[in-house]
Amino acid sequence: MTKKVSSREMGLVLGARLLRTQDLHYGYWEPDLALTLANLPQAQERYTKFLLGHIPQGVRTVLDVGCGTGHVSQILTQKGYQVEAISPSRELTRLARERLGPGFALHATTLEEFRSEKRFDLLLFSESYQYIPLAASFAQARALLKPGGHVLICDFFRTDAPGDSPIKGGHDWRKFQAALAEQPFDVVSDTDITAKTAPNMDLVNTLLGDFAVPVWEAAEYYLTQNYPRMSRLLGWMFRKRLARLRHKYFSNQRTGKAFATYKTYHCILLRMKG
Ligand SMILES: C[S@@+](CC[C@H](N)C(=O)[O-])C[C@H]1O[C@@H](n2cnc3c(N)ncnc32)[C@H](O)[C@@H]1O
Repeated sequence: MTKKVSSREMGLVLGARLLRTQDLHYGYWEPDLALTLANLPQAQERYTKFLLGHIPQGVRTVLDVGCGTGHVSQILTQKGYQVEAISPSRELTRLARERLGPGFALHATTLEEFRSEKRFDLLLFSESYQYIPLAASFAQARALLKPGGHVLICDFFRTDAPGDSPIKGGHDWRKFQAALAEQPFDVVSDTDITAKTAPNMDLVNTLLGDFAVPVWEAAEYYLTQNYPRMSRLLGWMFRKRLARLRHKYFSNQRTGKAFATYKTYHCILLRMKG
């Protein structure tokens, strides 16, 4: 049976279509760049530059885990790295294949299920780390890296701030660090870029307010006016899910401030011992 599309995957596909950006990662907002939707591609380009600036000298082979639309893989290939990529989402894999061409080694699977005889110099997780169970991420890194190979993670983690975060996602930062301490990896560098990435949430919040809320309200009006009984029934059947969606997207709480409270965004370079 074909696997169901999860709501998180749906969010990524929607992001790719709605924003029409080449990347699915956050932007890296520096003071000289105004926080506007028009500037998002430039902020994402800065993120990519910042990220790739952490690739150590001597790396030749890269496994891009969770490659999204394949843009980062494409840039790496153009820079002369030998790249393979992993992509479990059907729709994103289609987009990545289109971009990277038939000769590119694109594996349509999850990292957990990926098997290869090859050993890589670097495993890259550009905002994909949060989707992969911690234990599996380390086990696969150990199996797929050459001795002395590197892992580069750029992603957000959950802080232990009290309260109910309106923004989901991310591994628990403390649990990640505790798990890492048990692994044969040294931390080469760890840069906290929460302040540079949090502004993305203000952008998302504005988008939701300006676009998604009016569309939702108009659809609600149409359904309740034209199909009152059916909309009451659907509203009752899906009441919990709708309440969750309203809380998540329409409560005006998905802000940069909330992000900086509940998340901590890091660019971490690890080196496998031995
Ligand atoms: C936020 S997107 C980031 C895409 C891309 N790396 C970028 O920087 O634009 C997250 C990516 O992780 C992938 N992903 C989700 N679960 C995964 C898993 N278990 N194994 C590998 N990749 C996964 C998604 O399909 C998607 O491509």
